[in-house]
Amino acid sequence: MATHLVVQPEGLEFDVLDGESLIEAADRAGYSWPSVCGRQGVCSTCSVQVLSSDEPLAAPTPAEVETLQMLPKWSADDDSLRLACQIRPVANLVVRKFGVRPK
Ligand code: FES
Repeated sequence: MATHLVVQPEGLEFDVLDGESLIEAADRAGYSWPSVCGRQGVCSTCSVQVLSSDEPLAAPTPAEVETLQMLPKWSADDDSLRLACQIRPVANLVVRKFGVRPK
């Protein structure tokens, strides 16, 4: 079952299929998502601020946390920053990300 993703502030909307990351879903929907490492989870360029989720996201893996720690705004007490190449939502999600553009 697909979930629905909204990317603010542009208000882009598309579905995320089961098992897809946000970047993979954006690619399939015709959008280019900022990425330097090619979705390997090591550059943090794809990071998003999660604004809302109908269901909690799975906790970040230790590898994702290691990459998120490169972000000045990251805090262990605030789980709203995540990597779009790593999270695979199971429910509707709203994120803030600048730089997502039509291909
Ligand atoms: S694309 Fe590099 S960490 Fe996600």
